[in-house]
Amino acid sequence: MSARAALRPLPLNGAALSTRTQNPQLLRGRGCWSSKRFTSTTAPPTAAPGKPAKSVFRKYVFRTSLVLTLLSGYFYATDTRASIHRYVVVPLVRWLYPDAEDAHHAGVDALKELYRLGLHPRERDSPDKDGKLATEVFGYTLSNPIGISGGLDKHADIPDPLFELGPAIVEVGGTTPQPQDGNPRPRVFRVVSQAAMINRYGLNSKGADHMAKVLKERVRAFAYAHGFGDHDAAEQRVLNGEAGVPPGSLFAGKLLAVQVAKNKTTPESDIAAVAQDYVYCVDRVAPYADIVVVNVSSPNTPGLRGLQAAGPLTEILKGVVGAARRIDRKTKPFVMVKVSPDEDSDEQVDGICHAVRESGVDGVIVGNTTNRRPNPLPKGYVLSAKEQQTLSETGGYSGPQLFEGTVALVARYKEKLAAEEGSTPKAIFASGGITTGRQAQAVLDAGASVAMMYTAITYGGTGTVTRVKNELREEREK
Ligand SMILES: Cc1cc2nc3c(=O)[nH]c(=O)nc-3n(C[C@H](O)[C@H](O)[C@H](O)COP(=O)(O)O)c2cc1C
Repeated sequence: MSARAALRPLPLNGAALSTRTQNPQLLRGRGCWSSKRFTSTTAPPTAAPGKPAKSVFRKYVFRTSLVLTLLSGYFYATDTRASIHRYVVVPLVRWLYPDAEDAHHAGVDALKELYRLGLHPRERDSPDKDGKLATEVFGYTLSNPIGISGGLDKHADIPDPLFELGPAIVEVGGTTPQPQDGNPRPRVFRVVSQAAMINRYGLNSKGADHMAKVLKERVRAFAYAHGFGDHDAAEQRVLNGEAGVPPGSLFAGKLLAVQVAKNKTTPESDIAAVAQDYVYCVDRVAPYADIVVVNVSSPNTPGLRGLQAAGPLTEILKGVVGAARRIDRKTKPFVMVKVSPDEDSDEQVDGICHAVRESGVDGVIVGNTTNRRPNPLPKGYVLSAKEQQTLSETGGYSGPQLFEGTVALVARYKEKLAAEEGSTPKAIFASGGITTGRQAQAVLDAGASVAMMYTAITYGGTGTVTRVKNELREEREK
C-alpha cells in the first residue's frame, strides 16, 4: 500500500472493504453469516430463540445486498471511466449552481473533501503503464502528454486529486506576490451551447506566501508518509529527489507546474517592479515546483499583455530564470512563459521568441483565453439571444472554438523556436480549445509536447482526462 493510501482512513478504502467482505471471520465479526452457516440445515445458532431462520436469512440477504450495492457504487463512482461524471454530475452542478464561479468553488471543495476521505475519482488499473502515451519533457519521461491548465486550481488546494484524474502535468495558480481579490463578481460566464466560458477573474490570489505554505505542507506530509521524518531535513531530502519522484509533483512520471503573476497594483510601466513581483513569487513557490510558469497573458489584468513586448519580457524572464536557478534544491525548476493567442502578429511572436532565447527560458505555453469572440460551432450555428448577450461580457473566452487557432499558433512557435546549433530545444505546451484525443494528437503533431485542458474539464467532468487519453490511444492505433 502506498503511503498516500496509508494516510487515508481505512474503513472508507475500497480495497479494505472488499477484503472484509471476502473474509468470513470478519463478516462474522460484523454480524453476518459465514457460508458454512448458510448451508446448514438446522436453524442458525445465532438466531434468537423463537426467531425463525427465515427472518435471519432475510436480514442476511438485506445486509449483503446493501454492502454489495455500496461497494459497487463506490467502485463505479470513484472511477474516472464512469459516465456519471459527465452526464449526471456536470449537469447537476450546473443546475445547482447557476453562477459558474460558485460551481467552480463547489467542485474544488468536493474534490478536496472526497480526496481526504479516500472517495475521490481516480484512474483505476494504471492505464498509462503500457507506456503507449509516454513522452519526454525536460529529460523526464512523462506517463502521458496531457495536462491541466492554470486557473482550475488557483490556490493549490487540489493538486493531488487532480493528478489522480490522470494528467501528467498539473498547473496550479496563478499566484501573485500579495493577496488580491480580483474583479467584482459575477466574473465567470458559461456559453453552454458552445461548451465555452468567458472569465474575468482578474487573477484572484491568496498570495505567494499562502501558496508556498500549502505546497510546503504537502511535501512535509509526503516526507513523513514515506519515512523521511517530519523536519526540515526530511523536506529537503524529498525536494532533493531522494524519494525517487519529481520534487514538485511527488508522482513518478508527472510534473507540477506553479504559475506566477504580478499584482494588479504594480505599475506595468515600472518593469523593475514588475520583475520583482515575479521574482518574489518564484522565491517562495519555486522550491515546490517542477516547472515555474510566468503568466504575461491573462487578459484580465490591465497592461499585463503589454509585458509580452520583447524588451520588458526579456527583463522579466531573465529575473525569473535567475531566481529559479538560485533556489536551494538539487534540481532547479524549469521555467516556461504562457503567452496570449491574441498577440499573434509576426512581430509579436518574433519578439516573444527573442525574449525566450535571450533569457534562457525553457519553453512556452501557447496560449491563454482570447479577447476575441470566435465564430460558434458547428459552422453557421446561431446563438440564442441570451448567449449573444453573454458574449458581450468583458473577459477571456475559452473553449473548443479556440482549437484551430491553437494548432496554428503552436506550429508557428515551433518553427520560430527551432533549436539553434548547440542549444537545447524549447518545449511547447498547447492550451486552448483542446477537447478530444484527436485534437490532442493534432497539437502534438504541430510541435507541442503536452496538450493542456481547462474548459473541456468543466463541461466533461472528472473523467475528461481519461477519456481524452483513451481517444489518443485509439488515434495512435489507427
Ligand atoms: C475560469 C478560468 C480561469 C482561468 N484562470 C487562469 C489563470 O489563473 N491563469 C492562466 O494562465 N490561465 C487561466 N485560465 C486560462 C486557461 O488556463 C486556458 O489557458 C484557457 O482557458 C484556454 O484553454 P481551454 O480552452 O482548454 O480552457 C483560466 C480559464 C478559465 C476558463
